[in-house]
Amino acid sequence: MSHKPKILITRKIPAECLSYLKEHCECTLWEEEGSIPRNQLLEQIKDYEGLLLSGTSIDAELLDRAPRLKAVSSISVGYNHFDIDEMKARGVIGTHTPYVLDDTVADLVLALMLSSSRRIAELDAFVKKGNWRRGAVREEHLFGMDVHHATLGIIGMGRIGEAIAKRAVRGFDMNLLYYNRSRKPDVEERFGAEYRSLEDLLTESDFVVLMTPLTPETVRFIRKEHFEMMKPSAFFINASRGQTVDEQALIEALRNGTIRGAGLDVFDKEPISPDNPLLQLDNVVTVPHIGSATVKTRNDMAMVASQNLVGALTGGKAYVVPELQYLVK
Ligand code: DGY
Repeated sequence: MSHKPKILITRKIPAECLSYLKEHCECTLWEEEGSIPRNQLLEQIKDYEGLLLSGTSIDAELLDRAPRLKAVSSISVGYNHFDIDEMKARGVIGTHTPYVLDDTVADLVLALMLSSSRRIAELDAFVKKGNWRRGAVREEHLFGMDVHHATLGIIGMGRIGEAIAKRAVRGFDMNLLYYNRSRKPDVEERFGAEYRSLEDLLTESDFVVLMTPLTPETVRFIRKEHFEMMKPSAFFINASRGQTVDEQALIEALRNGTIRGAGLDVFDKEPISPDNPLLQLDNVVTVPHIGSATVKTRNDMAMVASQNLVGALTGGKAYVVPELQYLVK
């Protein structure tokens, strides 16, 4: 019988993913809630050639203890938890799950735009607290802002950006601006999108959606001076990574009316601390990093990640992260 690579599955995965992995690998599964604790992972990693994970840091400390490790597969599209230089130095392949979550994350971004501008969470609390009195719905203090026909500025026009663009333009008749490392003529043609400098996009948009991946270049990409360029009526939506924004500057901008509101799926520290001032602000809608979290999409992501791990360990097909693709060519 041919050699089956030994893999460690660091969190529960759907049964069909486990069966698939068992066909191809010798599997050890962390069966308790959440992910395997870091200290136990560091103790056990020495025996394994493959690791299936989500969010676990793959850094020098872990790699130093993993002499047999050939591939790590993350159940996520973002891979900022991979230390790419350390993985390159050891020839460890890293894979991720692009494509399967684009529509689901785009749906959530629209939900954040709608719920922040139409004040859904705030007004839900208003009704549930029994504050709805006759005539109250005609009171201006409950009014929101329109999404339809407003101007949307997308920072980071990747696949998810395009899925947001499609919804915004075709569903809500929005005017579309975008800022990206490179221009996308096809997006301009399909959605009538107009390219802008970052500064012009911030100045002109009613909704600013940040979708850039977290890389060394995008840490604290949006700062105080950027919020100051935005309209006081504008909303800021972040479904990328919390560290792409100076969170303190965002809090100040929301507190002092520099911008009107925000819809946030991601935060500087996750889980967010209960005493984070963002949680005290009525003009902020928060969700706990659930951009891709629907039953189907998370199952699909786990299956793609499982296939990636098998592919990376056996020379088959895998979505290897761009910086490490040379390792499999
Ligand atoms: C991703 O896949 O990177 C999303 O943020 C969900 O974790």
